[in-house]
Amino acid sequence: MMEADLISWVAVLFRFVHVLAAIMWIGNSLLFTWMEFNLQKPAKDGEGDLLGTLDMLHGGGVYHLEKRILRPGAIPAPLHWFMWQSYTTWLSGFVLMGTLYLTGSGTFFLDATKTAMPGYAAVLWSLGGLGAGWLVYDQLWRSPLKKKPFVAVSLSLALLFAAAWFFNTMFNGRAVYLQIGAMMGTMMSANVFFHIIANQHKFMAALESGRPHDGELGKAAKSRSLHNHYMTFPVLFLMLSAHFPQLYSAEWNVPILAVIVLSLMFVKFLMNSRYQFADWLHAIGGTLLFASAAIYILLALPDIGRPDADSMADTGKRAFLGQGCAACHMQGSSELAPQLTGIYGTMQTMNDGAEVMADAAYLRESITHPQTRIVKGYAAAMPAYASVLSPEQIEQLVAYIRSMGPKTK
Ligand code: HEC
Repeated sequence: MMEADLISWVAVLFRFVHVLAAIMWIGNSLLFTWMEFNLQKPAKDGEGDLLGTLDMLHGGGVYHLEKRILRPGAIPAPLHWFMWQSYTTWLSGFVLMGTLYLTGSGTFFLDATKTAMPGYAAVLWSLGGLGAGWLVYDQLWRSPLKKKPFVAVSLSLALLFAAAWFFNTMFNGRAVYLQIGAMMGTMMSANVFFHIIANQHKFMAALESGRPHDGELGKAAKSRSLHNHYMTFPVLFLMLSAHFPQLYSAEWNVPILAVIVLSLMFVKFLMNSRYQFADWLHAIGGTLLFASAAIYILLALPDIGRPDADSMADTGKRAFLGQGCAACHMQGSSELAPQLTGIYGTMQTMNDGAEVMADAAYLRESITHPQTRIVKGYAAAMPAYASVLSPEQIEQLVAYIRSMGPKTK
């Protein structure tokens, strides 16, 4: 119990730090890229040190900003660098992943209906994915392919979706979305560490020893910044996806993930083109509508042509997701509420020590009047659904819980 308390306190502290640092980092990324896209180019191009200017109204005055090439011997002081927002986000995120690795010794990630692998193997796959994702992405964008951005972008995305498909063969849906989000977050932070900041160190060192500003190093760093910029929306969505059980636990959760990643990147692209493309706002509306329709179809399609025997449990599954049961009864986690997978027909221990058979009547009562009997080790936190659900819906939920596979632990 002590250990569990410690883990949950670490999770509280680091989750807050993580969100705060991520807001600061992504806020910077969005603002810097916005400035880059909106710089007013100097009248005569390629002359002098000036790359562009920008005037921004804020805080009771105008910020007049110039972007310029640095000259040796004229390095301004203080000169501000931006990196700790990124490193703090990654480090705190890694600690949070660690708390999940420790939860149930790694079984948090697994789906017992897909694999029988032990928890430590899931942890190794997850860690391996973080490292391999970065190495593959980095090598791809160091290769000659980077001269063909369309091919390189398509290949990167195809590999990302293949990774999601691969993890989906063993991880539960919630963990798949988290894993892909963490892999992209790792690529972003590694871009900052190995390219953006590393290149800045290189050209600053050159300037300090009197050599000219190497524009190529800056350009290479800028292209990685742009990658990070396009990853921000999808990563944010995936990091919040624990709240979207209807998506991650859908049968076609991986194609849904692909639609989300692609459409959010495209929305960012349209936002960036607002001064060149008058209809950008309509295009964003269209993209979101199109993506919603695609997701709706992906949610509905697997059910078409299903044998009728399953339909009650299937309807129950939709009610389970739609009524928010899954927010507490999470796949792979028994932190907030007991796992329901495999409980049907087994003995359940209550907080007064009584043993109760989880049959249909018990399940019915657990849903309509959860306060009557409380499962051992849990708070009486479940809302009563007696007046919320129809008797039909309750039977469908019972059928769904009955249909759930073997117990995870
Ligand atoms: C706010 C969180 C929360 C929500 C939402 C919630 N539950 Fe629960 N549920 C719990 C907790 C906590 C327990 C264990 C304590 C208890 O017995 O009441 C529990 C217990 C149960 C049990 C008994 C499990 C066992 O191991 O014996 C069943 C069955 C159940 N819930 C089904 C549902 C269904 C179906 C829904 C949606 C209609 C739902 N729950 C929504 C928190 C929640």
